[in-house]
Amino acid sequence: MNILAFNSSPRDNETSKTELVLQKFLQGARRAGAVAETLYLRNYKISHCLGCYNCWLQSPGQCVQKDDMTEKLFDLYLQADLVVLASPIYHATMNARMKLFVERTLPMMDPLKEAPAGGTPHRFEKMPKVVTLSVCGFWEQAMFEAMSMTWRMCLGGDLIAEIYRHSSEFLSIPEFQVTAQPVLDALTQAGEEVVRQGQVTPETMAALTQPLGPPELLARLAREFWSGGTG
Ligand SMILES: Cc1cc2nc3c(=O)[nH]c(=O)nc-3n(C[C@H](O)[C@H](O)[C@H](O)COP(=O)(O)O)c2cc1C
Repeated sequence: MNILAFNSSPRDNETSKTELVLQKFLQGARRAGAVAETLYLRNYKISHCLGCYNCWLQSPGQCVQKDDMTEKLFDLYLQADLVVLASPIYHATMNARMKLFVERTLPMMDPLKEAPAGGTPHRFEKMPKVVTLSVCGFWEQAMFEAMSMTWRMCLGGDLIAEIYRHSSEFLSIPEFQVTAQPVLDALTQAGEEVVRQGQVTPETMAALTQPLGPPELLARLAREFWSGGTG
């Protein structure tokens, strides 16, 4: 299985928690025999969708623009067996860079075709399955609800798993190593399960979303951090 991950975090790989969670997931996927590559959207020039519908009418399946999306990323997306769309939560949804990217996949849809049950109307015969992955700073899983709804509406049956990890900034703090390690292990397990079984088991999902500590503690440490304390 060829996996291609798109990471839309603007942060460098040492700081980005999307990257931390994504690489744990891909580690498990590789353990199950997959070949996995990550592309960082911050390294590519992607213009906004023009809303011209040329990709549906004048040149079906092809965008009129010339940028890294048309020259490279669009084809790579279609060639993959599995795509991972990885974005941090910004203002309770995917960040703008990921939204920009996904809007430019419009040529993949064909308005003349009927959508399969629970799916989207594909133009191309072979479409990759998709896993969405995200992290957020706050300690509540509800933070992912708006984004999850968007992904489910847009990806339909192509979406085979959603990997969402809250309290992301605490994952790499040494004081939280004891509670973070089982979460990181579960992320790796999730990658392995997606390759082997095409889905994540409820047990692994529960393990990867478990709290790192009581919400009051996390809230206090976050406040200390932002006020320049030791948190
Ligand atoms: C502009 C901006 C908006 C954010 N909005 C939210 C939010 O709505 N909810 C939340 O829990 N975290 C929010 N965060 C925190 C990020 O989700 C968190 O720091 C995450 O680790 C960032 O991912 P990254 O490290 O891969 O860049 C926001 C961060 C930024 C910079």
